[in-house]
Amino acid sequence: MQTLTITRPDDWHLHLRDGPAMKDALAHTSAVFARAIVMPNLKPPVTRTDQARAYRERIVSALAPGHRFEPLMTLYLTDATSAAEIRLARDSGLVHGVKLYPAGATTNSESGVTGLDRCDPALQAMQELDLALLVHGETTDPAVDVFDRERAFIDTVLIPLRRRFPALRIVFEHITTRDAVQYVGEADDRLAATITAHHLRYNRNALFVGPDGRNGIRPHAYCLPVIKREEHRQALLRAATGGSPKFFLGTDSAPHPVREKESACGCAGCFTAPVALSMYAECFEQAGALERLEAFASFHGADFYRLPRNRERITLQRSPWQPPSELPFGAERVAPLGAGENFAWKIAN
Ligand code: DOR
Ligand code: ZN
Repeated sequence: MQTLTITRPDDWHLHLRDGPAMKDALAHTSAVFARAIVMPNLKPPVTRTDQARAYRERIVSALAPGHRFEPLMTLYLTDATSAAEIRLARDSGLVHGVKLYPAGATTNSESGVTGLDRCDPALQAMQELDLALLVHGETTDPAVDVFDRERAFIDTVLIPLRRRFPALRIVFEHITTRDAVQYVGEADDRLAATITAHHLRYNRNALFVGPDGRNGIRPHAYCLPVIKREEHRQALLRAATGGSPKFFLGTDSAPHPVREKESACGCAGCFTAPVALSMYAECFEQAGALERLEAFASFHGADFYRLPRNRERITLQRSPWQPPSELPFGAERVAPLGAGENFAWKIAN
């Protein structure tokens, strides 16, 4: 197969940032994706509907000429989020989910939730109004090994939460383990999950080896939840390519300036917007499931969020290419994941 034409995809988990760098991050997404669920972990976080509306307007005004793209906004859940705020969010029609960051779990999560029982009024309202909860699924207990934090989150947070709010619809974001695949797969259809391109393409060895095979630490491949062992990558591949509507595309593209990634304490986040669809296509092809890419990338997420599927189409072409090592990012530079590696599929239009 030399070309692949599919319904234009959406990105169900994206970080666009704010300020002068946003336009640069955005252009890579809006060139490919029709819509994206935009994460609210700005500084300060987007905790209210009026902030989400203003952020949405800044995104729309930063769009490149000719690009058609719809930002789907989210609120950042805090211990203080009220039921009234959830109602405002729902009524706005602009907010499509509320994001749970356990406080301290990841980048810009300082204002996140310190105990989920503090959020009962908000969760109750979300359940009643059918506004989805999007979760960063990692426990914040420093005693738990960083590679086990997703599994621990299922047991200590997700299972009790779903018991208390059985009708709440939840997206388990960027799942990284066989345990999460199994848990989501066995749950009812109120629970779904996004899977990133980098967790499908790489296992944790990739954190410690260069594209040329040399040993070394690779800060641009560091994200949270951190990339796991090969057996987990295999489970994610089976989930993504298996055709279940519970699994859909969410890149978690999370740009940071090169300066902040390449430091003594490099921050978490992989910038994949320019390469994500090529990565997904390659993973699906290697799994012998290219014909299932369209449903994963363009149907399952829209169906879960109860939004219409896109009508436009996009074509991928078999045409070898390498992502550039750096790209503009406001006054800074950002390094796309996969720089220096060969990719088989390129976006043709
Ligand atoms: O690696 C990550 N980066 N994980 C997250 O959950 C947040 C993200 C970011 O905002 O940079
Ligand atoms: Zn994220």
